[in-house]
Amino acid sequence: MTDRARLSLGDAQYEFPVLEGSEGERAIDIRDLRAKTGHITLDPGYGNTGSCESAITYIDGEQGILRYRGIPIEQFAAEPNFVEVAWLLIFGALPSGDEYTSFAADLTRHANLDEGMKHHFEGFPRAAPPMAILSAMINALSCFYPELFELEDPERFRGAAARLISKIRTIAAYAYRHSRGQPYIYPNPRLKYVPNFLHMLFSEPYDDCACDESVIRALNLVLILHADHEQNCSTSTVRMVGSSGANLFASCAAGVCALWGPLHGGANVEVLDMLERIHNGHLTPEAYVKLAKDKDTKVRLMGFGHRVYKNFDPRAKLLGEVAEELLARLGVDDPLLDIARRLEEIALSDPYFIERKLYPNVDFYSGVILRAIGIPTNMFTVIFAIGRLPGWIAHWREQRAGGSRIARPRQIYTGSTRADYVPMAERG
Ligand code: ACO
Repeated sequence: MTDRARLSLGDAQYEFPVLEGSEGERAIDIRDLRAKTGHITLDPGYGNTGSCESAITYIDGEQGILRYRGIPIEQFAAEPNFVEVAWLLIFGALPSGDEYTSFAADLTRHANLDEGMKHHFEGFPRAAPPMAILSAMINALSCFYPELFELEDPERFRGAAARLISKIRTIAAYAYRHSRGQPYIYPNPRLKYVPNFLHMLFSEPYDDCACDESVIRALNLVLILHADHEQNCSTSTVRMVGSSGANLFASCAAGVCALWGPLHGGANVEVLDMLERIHNGHLTPEAYVKLAKDKDTKVRLMGFGHRVYKNFDPRAKLLGEVAEELLARLGVDDPLLDIARRLEEIALSDPYFIERKLYPNVDFYSGVILRAIGIPTNMFTVIFAIGRLPGWIAHWREQRAGGSRIARPRQIYTGSTRADYVPMAERG
């Protein structure tokens, strides 16, 4: 028999259905709570609120499990292929050989930006934050593809997804080149997704960059490990914006803005800043951890803690290993990796972090890897956005397909009760 949840409010009793997900997680379905009781729920930060049902990604934060469409993320590490994972997330199953080849060809075909878009880059100051440029330029794509606002047709949706996944990488590379006053490098149709991105970032008109296979592998894995994380802040933003009927480009541009914040995707930049501050001699790792425990300082151990994971973030585990391997392979001796290891060691044996179940998250080691690849710190969150894009697209599509209502939370009003307007001359 299906469980029912019972609620007593004063003398009245109410019953609500209990739903169960495919992995056994349970929810009280309060869809008609307000209609039945006149009450709403209050859950700032949404720690107890399920905003939707979703079949894309499963997380068990207590056990450190993350699966895309049922597949544990560890299984993508042997031969990391971001394009394959993008397809899996968006379309629900691993691509067949033909599907993969044709999607990869679409990504190659759509890599160029309209020449008109290049002028937009010129308008940004050199020091403009690349996340601002990324968001603005993804939104600008709406101006170039108005025919892709209506995406009910599967072929048309596929074309829009391919354009976005392909072009975000070109936009990111152009933003980087612009910030350095360097000429834009056109995409090379002979290169695959990740090498093509590295080519647009690091080649010169007179000299193609040669990328080590270990770099391509590491970047593929970094992108895969960022590709989706169910209802996180930026993904919820994309779903919310999409629920208003906004087009795919506008919705994903909003996702970029949400990701930018230091408590979300921006944390990978903060981690590097923290490691550099410690390295530059201002603090020892021990002293930094002490500061992070002191509530008066507002300092946090960046790259530690997670709303969902109360155990190791499985992404951090993989990235810690990749950081070790990549630096060894490239012969890079980065003192920041040693500092990160020491911080992890101190925190994991400290009662403050143990009691609060604070473990390294995805941002803790990703910066060390990106730095070894030669990507500057201010581009870290942009890389996160490129990785997260397939997840945003998958959620946008799922949200649309569900025909769900516009997302519109309620509130408990705590402001002034009814007041009267006082003309300026009569105010004290
Ligand atoms: N350093 C020190 N203390 C911390 C940290 C940290 N990194 N994270 C949480 N805490 C403490 C809080 O002060 C709080 O202590 P209290 O109970 O004594 O008041 C307790 O642990 C619970 O923390 P909350 O902030 O309530 O946890 P929440 O789930 O709201 O926040 C978050 C999660 C934002 C990730 C938080 O852990 C944090 O700020 N971490 C550092 C930033 C970071 O790495 N963000 C990236 C997250 S992963 C991602 O977005 C891709």
